[in-house]
Amino acid sequence: MSKIKIAIQKSGRLNEDSVQILKDCGISIDNGKDQLKAATRNFPMEVMFLRNGDIPQYLRDGVVDIAIIGENVLVEKGKDIDIAERLNFSKCKVSLAVPKDVEYNSIKDLDGKRIATSYPNTVNEYLKEKGISADLHQISGSVEIAPNIGLADAICDIVSSGSTLFKNNLKEVEVMLTSEAVLAVSPGISNENKAILKKLQFRIQAVLKARA
Ligand code: PRP
Ligand code: MG
Repeated sequence: MSKIKIAIQKSGRLNEDSVQILKDCGISIDNGKDQLKAATRNFPMEVMFLRNGDIPQYLRDGVVDIAIIGENVLVEKGKDIDIAERLNFSKCKVSLAVPKDVEYNSIKDLDGKRIATSYPNTVNEYLKEKGISADLHQISGSVEIAPNIGLADAICDIVSSGSTLFKNNLKEVEVMLTSEAVLAVSPGISNENKAILKKLQFRIQAVLKARA
């Protein structure tokens, strides 16, 4: 019998909640801690623990059939990938922020400025829409430190509790998008695995209903 391959975040903020929702669906993962691939009990599923940013490409290539991923990652690099379910956890914003003591009136204030981000496509699209051009510096983590080390005038990153902004003396000035965890589907999923997905969605919907 076929097994559906699901990608979940290897480490980071989505990991725990992703494992939990599967558990709540009655699917327990046989988890050797450093294993990148794990079997499950009670459901025809195989789990791959992957880096967030790699997941859209794995879905596209059909290496995995489905994934639990932040919507913000799909907006950044997986606009072509379908969402089967919204999962109502890991809610966050993707926002622009500037140093707390800098005067900010509108997005026009960012014209010609340097913006550090891990989400270049999202920022570019937003700025383009507003008719603003800025100089983007792509960095892969600890983005909020950029203004303090003179690398950028502003940053764009995920805001959840807001504590990272606060600690780095930054203030949120524009919310570009709001995001939550979603169940994304490979365009190449087989009919057999589609049937398994349907069963999983049925269980997820029941879990979300019970949580509400
Ligand atoms: C994420 C994100 C923000 C922060 C937002 O970083 O990049 O920096 O969390 O959360 P908060 O609003 O609750 O503070 P993370 O700690 O995952 O590390 P990284 O940026 O180095 O990947
Ligand atoms: Mg960060």
